[in-house]
Amino acid sequence: MTENNNNYNRTFDSKTIQQLKEKEVQTKFSTFKEEVKTEDTEAAKKVEDTERYNDPAEEKKKVNPLLKLVDKLSGKEKEEEAKQRYESTYTDVDVVAKDLTIQDIIAPIDLEVDFNDLQIGDYYARTLFISGYPRFVGPNWLSPIVNFEHSLRISTFYYPVDSKTILEKLKKKIGEMEASLYSQMEDRKVVDPSLKVALSDAQQLQDSIAEGTEKFFHFAMYVTIYARNKELLEKYSRNVISTFAAMNVTARPATLQQEPGFISTQPIGVDKLYITRNMDTTSIATTFPFVSSELTMDHGIMYGINLHNKSLVIFDRFELENANTVVFAKSGAGKSYFVKLEAVRSLMLGTEIIIIDPEREYEALCTAVNGSYISFSQDKGNKMNPFELSGVKDEGDDELRMKLLALHGFFKVLFGGLSNVEESLLDRALILTYREKGITFDPATQTKKPPLLEDLYKVLKGMAETEAHDLSKRMEKYIIGSAAGVFNEESNFEINNPFTVFSVRDLQEELKPLAMYLMLDFIWTRIRKDIKRRLLIVDEAWYMMQSLDSASFMYSIAKRARKYYLGLTTITQDVADFLNNDMGKAIISNSSLQVLMKQSPSAVEKLQQVFNLSDGERNYLLNCDRGQGLFFAGSNHVGIQILSSQAEHELITSDPRDLERKCRE
Ligand SMILES: Nc1ncnc2c1ncn2[C@@H]1O[C@H](COP(=O)(O)OP(=O)(O)OP(=O)(O)O)[C@@H](O)[C@H]1O
Ligand SMILES: [Mg+2]
Repeated sequence: MTENNNNYNRTFDSKTIQQLKEKEVQTKFSTFKEEVKTEDTEAAKKVEDTERYNDPAEEKKKVNPLLKLVDKLSGKEKEEEAKQRYESTYTDVDVVAKDLTIQDIIAPIDLEVDFNDLQIGDYYARTLFISGYPRFVGPNWLSPIVNFEHSLRISTFYYPVDSKTILEKLKKKIGEMEASLYSQMEDRKVVDPSLKVALSDAQQLQDSIAEGTEKFFHFAMYVTIYARNKELLEKYSRNVISTFAAMNVTARPATLQQEPGFISTQPIGVDKLYITRNMDTTSIATTFPFVSSELTMDHGIMYGINLHNKSLVIFDRFELENANTVVFAKSGAGKSYFVKLEAVRSLMLGTEIIIIDPEREYEALCTAVNGSYISFSQDKGNKMNPFELSGVKDEGDDELRMKLLALHGFFKVLFGGLSNVEESLLDRALILTYREKGITFDPATQTKKPPLLEDLYKVLKGMAETEAHDLSKRMEKYIIGSAAGVFNEESNFEINNPFTVFSVRDLQEELKPLAMYLMLDFIWTRIRKDIKRRLLIVDEAWYMMQSLDSASFMYSIAKRARKYYLGLTTITQDVADFLNNDMGKAIISNSSLQVLMKQSPSAVEKLQQVFNLSDGERNYLLNCDRGQGLFFAGSNHVGIQILSSQAEHELITSDPRDLERKCRE
């Protein structure tokens, strides 16, 4: 229905215009006369005079000079004058345009009705009616027709039927069927299987209507096909009929009923054919046509192109129940590319972006948007003190208590798990360490300079228990050993740039999860301080999934992000790791937006289960190109092609060839 179907209404030839003009002059003329009459001061006489003109004896009466005067006053003489004036004022176009009713404008000039088609102006139209339906259909089964490649007019009519009437009819019908079944059995004939099926169907229907779980309807469906010439009309009709046939639906041309058929497919709600089929509520619900996979909002950012119908995927993730996203794909499929694109586009619309970047992939982008790039390393660069208090209070708790909780998590990751005894020792040691710096549970003391990791180390060493000594030994590595120089220094950075990237690439592999944990904690504390629209992007999130403690920390952020206007983006190439982890699964179910891109065969089986993918979607994920994938937003799935502009591509590509070329330039 998108093509210019209405063009045939518009073809006025000069002859038609001429006719219209004449007609219009006449009507205009009489209107004018009416107006003049109204102006007349002797309004009362007007009626009488009009009657007199129609009088057969008019000629005689007109001789009377008094009557002549009346004629003059009532405007008879003005007619000629007015006609001339009118013709000189109005042009052809005005004549056509003025005083036409809507019907005049939209109705075709002529209509030629044939056996199996109609001709309207330059267009041919043919109406089909649906005479046979399949026994089983799924939801949205009409979509091949609704999204047909040519314009069609489809109308469906739903007539509710009174349950009582239908129950009576069913009772009669069931009686008949049972009787013929029994007679077949009595005659020792083979029982007709289709009769048995029909009987059980009818009985089921009877039950559900009687229970009130189903209602009964008559359903009618007509389709009008438009084409510019007869050959095309034939071709489109064949295509439509075979598309229907592929769904086990029988469509036939409404022979000798083309005009009523045409009218029935106009948007006026008139069914002139009334070719119906009985349906219950469940079946009728499947004919609902507006289930096409559109993801175009009037605001939000452009993610790419919808591969089903080439529309744009424009979406605002903050419109969903939560703004969290998970992005899964194998290495090199375009995950980071997608996320970077989303980040720059969101930044332009005023969203703050915080990125945890374990691979140093986001640096070029960060520089280009004037962001702040915080890179942790053991020698130079930025440092982060795990004991740092931010001065942020949340939900009535004092900050130290919250900090202690986070530190427990951190040390569990650092020590690779703690026994109960160790944990309670650590708790005591932590409180002591803070107290030595004058920091207690009294919020007033919490602005003092926080302790360092070595202070805790000393406290543990000074404790009597052997477990405490053990812990202090295990911690040595981070203070004087190979991992020293990251966590044992004062923090020297702030998040105050709308685009902040934290990088841990220069850290040892085993320190990355620890650093990411600390960073997330730091960011999370900052985020709660002032609520703004923010995206927190965690690339290579499988680092965080390696230990239960960091995984559950990620989950707790995902769960609470919505309240702080935060969207958490979790990116991982290690799908199995994520899906085998309860916390991973919980993060997925707390993410309303899910993006799946090209997958490896080993991961796809598991994904199919978790995301409820159809076989088609599964194969698509195995075979799609770089930058393509499935976009799940709430209940919508669409195939998407991520699309960037040249300028954006330059900024976000991580392709070594592109980078080399850029360096050479
Ligand atoms: N939509 C796209 N259009 C054009 N090029 C793309 C697109 N998506 C990805 N690429 C190219 O593929 C390269 C790899 O993509 P990307 O860095 O996003 O992979 P990845 O999935 O993050 O991989 P890894 O898991 O290894 O980090 C990009 O540098 C870019 O050049
Ligand atoms: Mg990546």
